[in-house]
Amino acid sequence: MGIETKSISIEKVKTSRIDQIDFNNLAFGSVFTDHMLVCDYKNGAWELPKIVPYQNISLDPSSKIFHYGQSIFEGMKAYKDKNDAIFLFRPLDNHKRFNISANRMCIPEIPEDYFMDGLTTLLKLDSAFIPTNAGSSLYIRPFMFASGKGFHASPADEYKFIIACAPSGAYFAGEVKVLIEQTYSRSANGGVGFAKAGGNYAGQFYPTQLAIAKGYNQVIWTDDTEHEYIEEAGAMNIFVRINDTLITGPTSDRILDGITRKSIIEIAKKEGIPVEVRKITVTEVVNAAKAGTLKEMFGAGTAAVISPISAFGFKDTDYALPKLDTPYAQRIKKIITDIQYNKSDDPYGWRYKV
Ligand code: PLP
Ligand code: COI
Repeated sequence: MGIETKSISIEKVKTSRIDQIDFNNLAFGSVFTDHMLVCDYKNGAWELPKIVPYQNISLDPSSKIFHYGQSIFEGMKAYKDKNDAIFLFRPLDNHKRFNISANRMCIPEIPEDYFMDGLTTLLKLDSAFIPTNAGSSLYIRPFMFASGKGFHASPADEYKFIIACAPSGAYFAGEVKVLIEQTYSRSANGGVGFAKAGGNYAGQFYPTQLAIAKGYNQVIWTDDTEHEYIEEAGAMNIFVRINDTLITGPTSDRILDGITRKSIIEIAKKEGIPVEVRKITVTEVVNAAKAGTLKEMFGAGTAAVISPISAFGFKDTDYALPKLDTPYAQRIKKIITDIQYNKSDDPYGWRYKV
């Protein structure tokens, strides 16, 4: 049983900002809908969620988010079909992962009905912002952080859960060129790499800026001890195709357990594509590139969807990926996006009607 929708208070905007949005030229995550959901944790309990006009938040300068980075987020999308029906993709998995992240960062869990009823009420209210142009969708950002006060380095006593939404186009503007990183690490054994914690992303910015300055878009992280195993990229999990076999590394406490990743593994199995979940060494990938057996590399994530990689850099050498007629990336992307936009059957039960 969910919380009753009537317990979510709604304060509507006086004037909508929708006319200011150019739906034909949407960047990723840079314009926002009229409303947001806000829910406060105080005195050991979550208060009822409220929907309010999208606005600034006021916080005490000693709020622990600013000092100790107690903050987590999720990334989801809402899609509209040709009849204007609204769909989500495996949203309960995002809720589950949100609470896994919350636990690791000592943030109180958010109940499923607050998350789901809050989100669906918000989506219905702001449904006019869900784009219908090909390749666009409404990017949804649920996040939670320590709003409680004090400089003591310990978990806060107050938190905020917010859902904000942004009509968005593609995450990457064009080809994706990646650098295999062997100096810096994204995460460590026993660390917080598996959590969608804000600091995991802040820590990537500097090495990623260095890679961008060399002409790459993203870093592919390797394990923190030997820098020999391919882990994931900054905002997506990684797949490689050697000959006909699709391979992705196993998840661990250093890697985000991506929902797109696990969906691709299931689709590949059903499509009869040989798929392996196993450790991939950098040496194996470089040797396959040299031998011509490395056919594809692509990233997978909610924002990135399935993003083909055109080349990778390793130790000052660039290796270009071949251009195939019907790459797995294209085939699987069509299957997954047809499910998301309600253009096909959904034999997996992943589509969620709002
Ligand atoms: N890895 C990282 C670091 C990410 O930020 C994301 C994006 O959410 C992913 C992988 C892909 O996860 P998902 O497919 O659940 O969006
Ligand atoms: C997502 O794909 O939803 C993410 O959270 C990645 C983010 C860095 C844009």
